[in-house]
Amino acid sequence: MLVKFQQYRTIWPNSLPGNGLATVSIIDQTKLPHIFEIARIESLQQMIVAIKTMQVRGAPLIGAAAAYGLALAMQEEASDQHLQAAAAQLIQSRPTAVNLNWAVQRMLNRLSPLTGLNRIQAAWTEAARICDEDVLLNQAIGQHGLSLIEKAYQQPDQKKQFNILTHCNAGWLATVDFGTALAPIYAAHNAGINVHVWVDETRPRNQGASLTSWELAQHGVAHTIISDNAGGHLMQQGLVDMVIVGADRVSSAGDVCNKIGTYLKALAAFDNQVPFYAAVPSPTIDWVIVDGLTEIEIEQRHGDEVAYMQGLAADGSVQKVRVIPIESKTINPAFDVTPARLVTGIITEQGVFAPHQLAFSRHD
Ligand code: MRU
Repeated sequence: MLVKFQQYRTIWPNSLPGNGLATVSIIDQTKLPHIFEIARIESLQQMIVAIKTMQVRGAPLIGAAAAYGLALAMQEEASDQHLQAAAAQLIQSRPTAVNLNWAVQRMLNRLSPLTGLNRIQAAWTEAARICDEDVLLNQAIGQHGLSLIEKAYQQPDQKKQFNILTHCNAGWLATVDFGTALAPIYAAHNAGINVHVWVDETRPRNQGASLTSWELAQHGVAHTIISDNAGGHLMQQGLVDMVIVGADRVSSAGDVCNKIGTYLKALAAFDNQVPFYAAVPSPTIDWVIVDGLTEIEIEQRHGDEVAYMQGLAADGSVQKVRVIPIESKTINPAFDVTPARLVTGIITEQGVFAPHQLAFSRHD
Protein backbone atom coordinates (compact mmCIF):
# COMPACT_ATOMS: atom_id res chain seq x y z
CA MET A 1 0.00 0.00 0.00
CA LEU A 2 1.00 3.61 -0.24
CA VAL A 3 3.03 5.72 2.17
CA LYS A 4 3.54 9.22 0.86
CA PHE A 5 2.66 7.85 -2.60
CA GLN A 6 5.36 5.17 -2.42
CA GLN A 7 4.51 1.45 -2.48
CA TYR A 8 5.43 -0.52 0.67
CA ARG A 9 4.94 -3.91 2.24
CA THR A 10 5.30 -4.26 6.02
CA ILE A 11 8.20 -6.71 5.82
CA TRP A 12 10.82 -7.58 3.22
CA PRO A 13 14.21 -9.27 3.00
CA ASN A 14 17.44 -7.57 1.92
CA SER A 15 21.10 -8.44 1.75
CA LEU A 16 23.65 -6.93 4.07
CA PRO A 17 26.39 -5.35 1.96
CA GLY A 18 29.77 -6.93 2.54
CA ASN A 19 29.27 -10.29 4.17
CA GLY A 20 26.42 -11.59 1.98
CA LEU A 21 24.11 -12.30 4.90
CA ALA A 22 20.49 -11.37 4.41
CA THR A 23 18.56 -9.15 6.81
CA VAL A 24 14.89 -8.27 7.12
CA SER A 25 13.34 -4.80 7.04
CA ILE A 26 10.14 -3.95 8.90
CA ILE A 27 8.07 -0.84 9.39
CA ASP A 28 8.44 -0.04 13.10
CA GLN A 29 4.81 0.19 14.21
CA THR A 30 5.61 1.43 17.73
CA LYS A 31 6.52 4.85 16.29
CA LEU A 32 3.49 5.42 14.09
CA PRO A 33 1.63 7.64 13.36
CA HIS A 34 4.24 10.22 14.32
CA ILE A 35 7.41 8.70 12.87
CA PHE A 36 7.62 6.45 9.81
CA GLU A 37 10.75 4.42 10.37
CA ILE A 38 12.15 1.26 8.82
CA ALA A 39 13.97 -1.05 11.25
CA ARG A 40 16.52 -3.62 10.15
CA ILE A 41 16.33 -7.03 11.81
CA GLU A 42 19.56 -9.01 11.68
CA SER A 43 19.06 -11.99 14.01
CA LEU A 44 16.48 -14.40 15.41
CA GLN A 45 16.65 -12.68 18.78
CA GLN A 46 16.00 -9.25 17.24
CA MET A 47 12.96 -10.69 15.45
CA ILE A 48 11.62 -12.14 18.70
CA VAL A 49 12.01 -8.74 20.37
CA ALA A 50 10.26 -7.06 17.41
CA ILE A 51 7.29 -9.43 17.78
CA LYS A 52 7.10 -9.14 21.57
CA THR A 53 7.35 -5.34 21.62
CA MET A 54 4.90 -5.09 18.71
CA GLN A 55 7.24 -3.35 16.28
CA VAL A 56 5.55 -5.91 14.06
CA ARG A 57 2.02 -6.90 15.05
CA GLY A 58 -1.24 -8.22 13.64
CA ALA A 59 -1.86 -11.93 13.23
CA PRO A 60 -0.80 -12.41 9.57
CA LEU A 61 2.24 -10.16 9.93
CA ILE A 62 3.59 -11.90 13.01
CA GLY A 63 3.25 -15.18 11.08
CA ALA A 64 5.34 -13.71 8.26
CA ALA A 65 7.80 -12.24 10.77
CA ALA A 66 8.19 -15.62 12.48
CA ALA A 67 8.92 -17.22 9.10
CA TYR A 68 11.69 -14.69 8.46
CA GLY A 69 12.83 -15.19 12.07
CA LEU A 70 13.47 -18.84 11.21
CA ALA A 71 15.31 -17.84 8.04
CA LEU A 72 17.58 -15.59 10.13
CA ALA A 73 18.02 -18.43 12.64
CA MET A 74 19.07 -20.88 9.93
CA GLN A 75 21.56 -18.34 8.61
CA GLU A 76 23.06 -18.24 12.12
CA GLU A 77 23.23 -22.04 12.44
CA ALA A 78 21.40 -24.50 10.22
CA SER A 79 21.36 -27.36 12.74
CA ASP A 80 18.28 -29.39 13.76
CA GLN A 81 18.78 -28.27 17.34
CA HIS A 82 18.79 -24.56 16.46
CA LEU A 83 15.78 -25.02 14.17
CA GLN A 84 13.71 -26.62 16.94
CA ALA A 85 14.85 -24.13 19.58
CA ALA A 86 14.15 -21.14 17.32
CA ALA A 87 10.71 -22.50 16.44
CA ALA A 88 9.84 -22.96 20.12
CA GLN A 89 10.98 -19.44 21.03
CA LEU A 90 9.03 -17.88 18.18
CA ILE A 91 5.83 -19.75 19.03
CA GLN A 92 6.08 -18.53 22.62
CA SER A 93 6.66 -14.90 21.64
CA ARG A 94 2.92 -14.16 21.33
CA PRO A 95 0.39 -16.88 22.21
CA THR A 96 -3.01 -15.87 20.81
CA ALA A 97 -2.66 -15.32 17.06
CA VAL A 98 -2.67 -18.76 15.47
CA ASN A 99 -0.93 -17.51 12.31
CA LEU A 100 2.35 -17.49 14.20
CA ASN A 101 2.11 -21.18 15.04
CA TRP A 102 0.79 -21.92 11.54
CA ALA A 103 3.77 -20.21 9.85
CA VAL A 104 6.32 -21.87 12.14
CA GLN A 105 4.83 -25.34 11.54
CA ARG A 106 4.85 -24.73 7.79
CA MET A 107 8.51 -23.69 7.92
CA LEU A 108 9.37 -26.75 10.04
CA ASN A 109 7.67 -29.08 7.55
CA ARG A 110 9.63 -27.50 4.72
CA LEU A 111 13.01 -27.26 6.47
CA SER A 112 13.21 -30.40 8.60
CA PRO A 113 14.09 -32.79 5.72
CA LEU A 114 16.86 -30.44 4.45
CA THR A 115 20.38 -29.70 5.67
CA GLY A 116 23.08 -27.02 5.35
CA LEU A 117 22.92 -24.49 2.53
CA ASN A 118 19.77 -26.11 1.09
CA ARG A 119 17.99 -25.52 4.38
CA ILE A 120 19.08 -21.88 4.55
CA GLN A 121 18.03 -21.15 0.98
CA ALA A 122 14.70 -22.95 1.42
CA ALA A 123 14.02 -20.93 4.59
CA TRP A 124 14.32 -17.61 2.75
CA THR A 125 12.27 -18.90 -0.18
CA GLU A 126 9.48 -20.32 2.00
CA ALA A 127 9.24 -17.15 4.10
CA ALA A 128 8.91 -15.08 0.91
CA ARG A 129 6.22 -17.49 -0.32
CA ILE A 130 4.24 -17.08 2.91
CA CYS A 131 4.37 -13.30 2.39
CA ASP A 132 3.29 -13.44 -1.26
CA GLU A 133 0.43 -15.79 -0.39
CA ASP A 134 -0.73 -13.48 2.40
CA VAL A 135 -1.04 -10.65 -0.11
CA LEU A 136 -3.16 -12.80 -2.44
CA LEU A 137 -5.42 -14.04 0.38
CA ASN A 138 -6.07 -10.50 1.54
CA GLN A 139 -6.84 -9.28 -1.98
CA ALA A 140 -9.41 -12.07 -2.31
CA ILE A 141 -10.93 -11.12 1.07
CA GLY A 142 -11.18 -7.58 -0.25
CA GLN A 143 -13.17 -8.68 -3.29
CA HIS A 144 -15.60 -10.86 -1.28
CA GLY A 145 -16.06 -8.08 1.25
CA LEU A 146 -16.63 -5.59 -1.57
CA SER A 147 -19.56 -7.70 -2.83
CA LEU A 148 -21.12 -7.54 0.64
CA ILE A 149 -20.69 -3.78 0.84
CA GLU A 150 -22.05 -3.28 -2.70
CA LYS A 151 -25.15 -5.31 -1.84
CA ALA A 152 -25.78 -3.37 1.36
CA TYR A 153 -25.03 -0.02 -0.28
CA GLN A 154 -27.58 -0.65 -3.05
CA GLN A 155 -30.47 -1.18 -0.62
CA PRO A 156 -33.44 1.13 -1.30
CA ASP A 157 -32.78 3.05 1.92
CA GLN A 158 -29.20 3.68 0.84
CA LYS A 159 -27.48 6.64 2.36
CA LYS A 160 -25.01 8.79 0.54
CA GLN A 161 -22.30 7.52 2.85
CA PHE A 162 -21.72 3.91 3.87
CA ASN A 163 -20.46 3.77 7.47
CA ILE A 164 -18.28 0.89 8.58
CA LEU A 165 -17.03 0.53 12.14
CA THR A 166 -13.75 -1.29 12.77
CA HIS A 167 -11.77 -2.13 15.88
CA CYS A 168 -8.01 -2.21 16.37
CA ASN A 169 -5.89 -2.39 13.24
CA ALA A 170 -6.59 -5.13 10.75
CA GLY A 171 -5.30 -3.11 7.84
CA TRP A 172 -2.22 -3.57 5.70
CA LEU A 173 0.01 -2.87 8.69
CA ALA A 174 -1.36 -6.00 10.39
CA THR A 175 -0.57 -8.13 7.34
CA VAL A 176 2.07 -8.17 4.60
CA ASP A 177 -0.18 -5.97 2.45
CA PHE A 178 -3.84 -4.96 1.89
CA GLY A 179 -5.08 -6.00 5.34
CA THR A 180 -7.98 -8.20 6.33
CA ALA A 181 -10.82 -6.07 7.74
CA LEU A 182 -9.63 -3.04 5.79
CA ALA A 183 -9.20 -4.92 2.49
CA PRO A 184 -12.96 -4.68 1.69
CA ILE A 185 -12.89 -1.01 2.70
CA TYR A 186 -10.00 -0.21 0.35
CA ALA A 187 -11.75 -2.21 -2.40
CA ALA A 188 -15.00 -0.28 -1.84
CA HIS A 189 -13.19 3.07 -1.79
CA ASN A 190 -11.34 2.16 -5.00
CA ALA A 191 -14.66 1.10 -6.58
CA GLY A 192 -16.04 4.59 -5.97
CA ILE A 193 -18.32 3.77 -3.03
CA ASN A 194 -18.59 6.64 -0.59
CA VAL A 195 -17.31 4.69 2.36
CA HIS A 196 -16.59 6.23 5.75
CA VAL A 197 -14.92 4.39 8.61
CA TRP A 198 -15.58 4.77 12.34
CA VAL A 199 -12.21 3.91 13.85
CA ASP A 200 -12.27 2.66 17.46
CA GLU A 201 -9.27 4.11 19.27
CA THR A 202 -8.58 0.65 20.79
CA ARG A 203 -7.06 1.21 24.19
CA PRO A 204 -4.69 0.32 25.65
CA ARG A 205 -2.26 0.43 22.71
CA ASN A 206 -4.45 2.54 20.45
CA GLN A 207 -3.92 0.55 17.27
CA GLY A 208 -7.08 2.12 15.84
CA ALA A 209 -6.21 5.72 16.67
CA SER A 210 -2.53 5.36 15.75
CA LEU A 211 -2.41 2.84 12.92
CA THR A 212 -5.80 2.37 11.25
CA SER A 213 -6.37 6.11 11.00
CA TRP A 214 -2.85 6.61 9.61
CA GLU A 215 -3.35 3.93 6.95
CA LEU A 216 -6.75 5.22 5.92
CA ALA A 217 -5.39 8.77 5.70
CA GLN A 218 -2.49 7.62 3.50
CA HIS A 219 -5.01 6.02 1.14
CA GLY A 220 -7.47 8.93 1.27
CA VAL A 221 -10.34 6.99 2.89
CA ALA A 222 -12.76 9.13 4.92
CA HIS A 223 -12.66 8.19 8.59
CA THR A 224 -13.36 9.45 12.09
CA ILE A 225 -11.66 8.25 15.26
CA ILE A 226 -14.05 7.50 18.11
CA SER A 227 -13.44 6.62 21.72
CA ASP A 228 -13.83 2.93 22.45
CA ASN A 229 -17.07 3.62 24.29
CA ALA A 230 -18.82 5.45 21.46
CA GLY A 231 -19.62 2.60 19.07
CA GLY A 232 -22.81 1.38 20.78
CA HIS A 233 -24.22 4.90 20.87
CA LEU A 234 -23.50 5.43 17.17
CA MET A 235 -25.23 2.16 16.36
CA GLN A 236 -28.32 3.24 18.30
CA GLN A 237 -28.33 6.44 16.24
CA GLY A 238 -28.35 4.42 12.99
CA LEU A 239 -24.90 5.69 12.08
CA VAL A 240 -23.23 2.32 11.56
CA ASP A 241 -24.14 0.21 8.51
CA MET A 242 -21.71 -2.62 9.08
CA VAL A 243 -18.99 -3.72 11.48
CA ILE A 244 -15.90 -5.41 10.03
CA VAL A 245 -13.11 -6.60 12.30
CA GLY A 246 -10.12 -8.86 11.83
CA ALA A 247 -9.23 -11.82 14.02
CA ASP A 248 -6.24 -13.40 15.68
CA ARG A 249 -7.84 -16.83 15.83
CA VAL A 250 -11.21 -18.22 14.76
CA SER A 251 -12.44 -21.56 16.09
CA SER A 252 -13.89 -24.20 13.77
CA ALA A 253 -17.32 -23.29 15.18
CA GLY A 254 -16.85 -19.64 14.19
CA ASP A 255 -15.98 -18.06 17.54
CA VAL A 256 -13.89 -14.98 16.80
CA CYS A 257 -10.93 -14.09 19.01
CA ASN A 258 -9.80 -10.54 18.33
CA LYS A 259 -8.44 -7.45 20.06
CA ILE A 260 -9.92 -6.76 23.49
CA GLY A 261 -13.19 -4.83 23.14
CA THR A 262 -14.37 -6.60 20.01
CA TYR A 263 -16.92 -8.62 22.01
CA LEU A 264 -18.59 -5.45 23.32
CA LYS A 265 -18.93 -4.13 19.76
CA ALA A 266 -20.46 -7.43 18.65
CA LEU A 267 -23.00 -7.26 21.49
CA ALA A 268 -23.96 -3.72 20.54
CA ALA A 269 -24.18 -4.68 16.86
CA PHE A 270 -26.42 -7.64 17.67
CA ASP A 271 -28.72 -5.48 19.79
CA ASN A 272 -29.02 -2.93 16.97
CA GLN A 273 -29.29 -5.38 14.03
CA VAL A 274 -26.04 -4.11 12.55
CA PRO A 275 -24.28 -6.87 10.54
CA PHE A 276 -21.04 -7.93 12.22
CA TYR A 277 -18.34 -9.55 10.03
CA ALA A 278 -14.87 -10.88 10.77
CA ALA A 279 -12.44 -10.85 7.83
CA VAL A 280 -9.89 -13.64 8.15
CA PRO A 281 -7.46 -15.44 5.86
CA SER A 282 -7.53 -19.24 6.25
CA PRO A 283 -4.27 -19.41 8.31
CA THR A 284 -6.21 -17.55 11.06
CA ILE A 285 -8.72 -20.39 11.40
CA ASP A 286 -7.77 -22.95 14.02
CA TRP A 287 -9.56 -26.11 12.88
CA VAL A 288 -8.34 -27.99 15.95
CA ILE A 289 -10.44 -26.05 18.44
CA VAL A 290 -14.21 -25.69 18.67
CA ASP A 291 -14.96 -23.53 21.71
CA GLY A 292 -13.05 -20.28 21.41
CA LEU A 293 -13.96 -19.20 24.93
CA THR A 294 -12.33 -22.11 26.71
CA GLU A 295 -9.70 -23.23 24.22
CA ILE A 296 -7.89 -20.04 23.17
CA GLU A 297 -5.08 -18.71 25.32
CA ILE A 298 -5.58 -14.98 25.83
CA GLU A 299 -2.32 -13.06 25.94
CA GLN A 300 -1.89 -11.04 29.15
CA ARG A 301 0.28 -8.02 28.45
CA HIS A 302 2.12 -5.69 30.81
CA GLY A 303 -0.01 -3.35 32.92
CA ASP A 304 2.11 -0.39 31.85
CA GLU A 305 0.18 -0.42 28.55
CA VAL A 306 -2.90 0.55 30.59
CA ALA A 307 -1.06 2.89 32.93
CA TYR A 308 0.70 4.94 30.25
CA MET A 309 -0.27 6.59 26.99
CA GLN A 310 2.13 7.52 24.22
CA GLY A 311 1.87 10.67 22.16
CA LEU A 312 3.62 13.56 20.51
CA ALA A 313 4.90 16.15 22.96
CA ALA A 314 4.98 19.86 22.20
CA ASP A 315 8.73 19.63 21.48
CA GLY A 316 8.09 17.10 18.71
CA SER A 317 9.36 14.06 20.63
CA VAL A 318 7.29 10.90 21.17
CA GLN A 319 6.71 10.52 24.91
CA LYS A 320 4.82 8.35 27.37
CA VAL A 321 2.72 9.83 30.17
CA ARG A 322 1.15 8.06 33.14
CA VAL A 323 -2.64 8.38 33.20
CA ILE A 324 -3.53 6.46 36.39
CA PRO A 325 -2.65 6.88 40.06
CA ILE A 326 0.66 5.36 41.09
CA GLU A 327 -1.12 3.21 43.73
CA SER A 328 -3.62 1.61 41.31
CA LYS A 329 -3.31 -1.90 39.93
CA THR A 330 -4.00 -2.93 36.34
CA ILE A 331 -4.70 -6.05 34.34
CA ASN A 332 -4.27 -6.13 30.59
CA PRO A 333 -5.90 -9.01 28.69
CA ALA A 334 -5.05 -8.32 25.03
CA PHE A 335 -7.88 -10.22 23.31
CA ASP A 336 -11.43 -11.40 23.84
CA VAL A 337 -13.69 -13.95 22.19
CA THR A 338 -16.91 -13.09 20.37
CA PRO A 339 -19.16 -16.16 20.32
CA ALA A 340 -20.29 -17.35 16.88
CA ARG A 341 -23.92 -16.52 17.70
CA LEU A 342 -23.07 -12.79 17.51
CA VAL A 343 -21.22 -13.09 14.19
CA THR A 344 -23.17 -12.48 10.96
CA GLY A 345 -20.47 -13.89 8.72
CA ILE A 346 -16.81 -14.66 8.26
CA ILE A 347 -15.16 -13.25 5.14
CA THR A 348 -12.35 -15.53 3.98
CA GLU A 349 -10.46 -15.75 0.70
CA GLN A 350 -12.96 -18.45 -0.30
CA GLY A 351 -16.06 -16.28 0.19
CA VAL A 352 -18.42 -15.22 2.98
CA PHE A 353 -19.60 -17.94 5.38
CA ALA A 354 -22.09 -18.03 8.24
CA PRO A 355 -20.13 -19.21 11.31
CA HIS A 356 -21.88 -22.60 11.34
CA GLN A 357 -20.89 -23.10 7.69
CA LEU A 358 -17.25 -22.15 8.13
CA ALA A 359 -16.12 -25.72 7.38
CA PHE A 360 -17.17 -25.15 3.73
CA SER A 361 -14.34 -22.61 3.46
CA ARG A 362 -11.73 -25.29 4.15
CA HIS A 363 -9.53 -26.08 1.16
CA ASP A 364 -6.41 -27.86 2.42
O1 MRU B 1 -2.15 -7.16 19.48
P1 MRU B 1 -2.19 -6.95 18.00
O2 MRU B 1 -2.16 -5.52 17.59
O3 MRU B 1 -1.16 -7.81 17.29
O4 MRU B 1 -3.59 -7.54 17.61
C1 MRU B 1 -4.07 -7.52 16.31
C2 MRU B 1 -5.53 -7.51 16.29
O5 MRU B 1 -6.21 -7.95 17.18
C3 MRU B 1 -6.16 -6.91 15.11
O6 MRU B 1 -7.26 -6.21 15.49
C4 MRU B 1 -6.61 -7.86 14.09
O7 MRU B 1 -7.95 -7.95 14.02
C5 MRU B 1 -6.05 -9.16 13.95
S1 MRU B 1 -4.75 -9.03 12.84
C6 MRU B 1 -5.45 -8.86 11.26
